[in-house]
Amino acid sequence: MRDARVAVVGATGAVGGVTMRILREHGFENVRAFASARSAGSVLADGTVVEEATADALAAGGIDIALFSVGTEASRELVPHAVRGGAVAIDKSSAYRLEPGIPLVVPEVNGDRVADHDGILANPNCCTIPLTCVLKPLHDAAGLRSVRVSTYQAVSGKGAARAEQLRQEPVEQHDIGFDWTWEGAETDEEAKIRAESQKVLELPELPISATTVRVPVLVGHAESVWIELESELTPEQAETVLGEAPSVRLVDTPTPAASARTDEVLVGRVRRDPAAESGLVLFLACDNLNKGAALNAVQIAERVLDTAWRPLTSA
Ligand SMILES: NC(=O)c1ccc[n+]([C@@H]2O[C@H](COP(=O)([O-])OP(=O)(O)OC[C@H]3O[C@@H](n4cnc5c(N)ncnc54)[C@H](OP(=O)(O)O)[C@@H]3O)[C@@H](O)[C@H]2O)c1
Repeated sequence: MRDARVAVVGATGAVGGVTMRILREHGFENVRAFASARSAGSVLADGTVVEEATADALAAGGIDIALFSVGTEASRELVPHAVRGGAVAIDKSSAYRLEPGIPLVVPEVNGDRVADHDGILANPNCCTIPLTCVLKPLHDAAGLRSVRVSTYQAVSGKGAARAEQLRQEPVEQHDIGFDWTWEGAETDEEAKIRAESQKVLELPELPISATTVRVPVLVGHAESVWIELESELTPEQAETVLGEAPSVRLVDTPTPAASARTDEVLVGRVRRDPAAESGLVLFLACDNLNKGAALNAVQIAERVLDTAWRPLTSA
């Protein structure tokens, strides 16, 4: 059903722009672009005229799938209107990710969960998506006992305006490092990676500890991952498992630059962790705007259209 009527809400943003491109590449032809009143009437590079994302416009019907990348507050306000209008909403903010009953989906990991949707599906955080793509096959092979992760996150993760700032200004002027919201001793990003990974992997008790850091890179989040397993896997066995995993590509040196505009999670430097009993260390890089956000959401949309499509009735 690639003739589905799709709305991209937040189409002028960093993730929305990539979403528009991926939809075109995947054969979606009936795509409307929405943003705030600030951008209404502007014309995107592909000629699409941006409409204002008002409650009435989204609730008016005529949208099968609505892909939201507008931020948490705007999502909370606008997503229900799109659902009221009969659309299935796929939201890339953190508004709905941990809500019980709302599927949080990485198609390669828990794609079957799309069937549980009641109008809203959530797309995980841009670090959670690549992390779970790597953890799931290792869990299936040897059981996860604990996970520690340290991130090196690109500035475009903060949106188009922040990425433009990095392009324009000398790196040393940027307040990079720990530009997150704090939740006690943790950043909100660290809490998201733990709770979302537990939900996607359906391992609510899995111990996960994260340290998240912003680095002066435009695109591509990287992660150092320390994994303790229930049973021993040699690095060679782990590479075999990961080499067969969907959306994972083994490379010698996974860098953010190499990951930019690729669809896969690049994984390398797989080695034994000398500080753990059955432990592995690896490094990954993933385009935060692509598989880390837009592509994953389009893949969820395709899964819904192919397997879990049911038009919702308008209120
Ligand atoms: N960047 C990433 O790597 C990444 C990855 C995963 C998830 N996400 C999530 O995706 C969302 C968007 O991120 P982004 O990086 O694309 O941000 P962005 O570049 O700042 O873009 C925000 C988009 O949302 C629109 N918008 C903002 N407030 C709105 C409102 N009240 N009504 C309608 N449209 C509104 C903006 O439209 P105007 O042009 O009119 O301002 C713009 O199109 C956030 O929730 C973010 O957490 C981002």
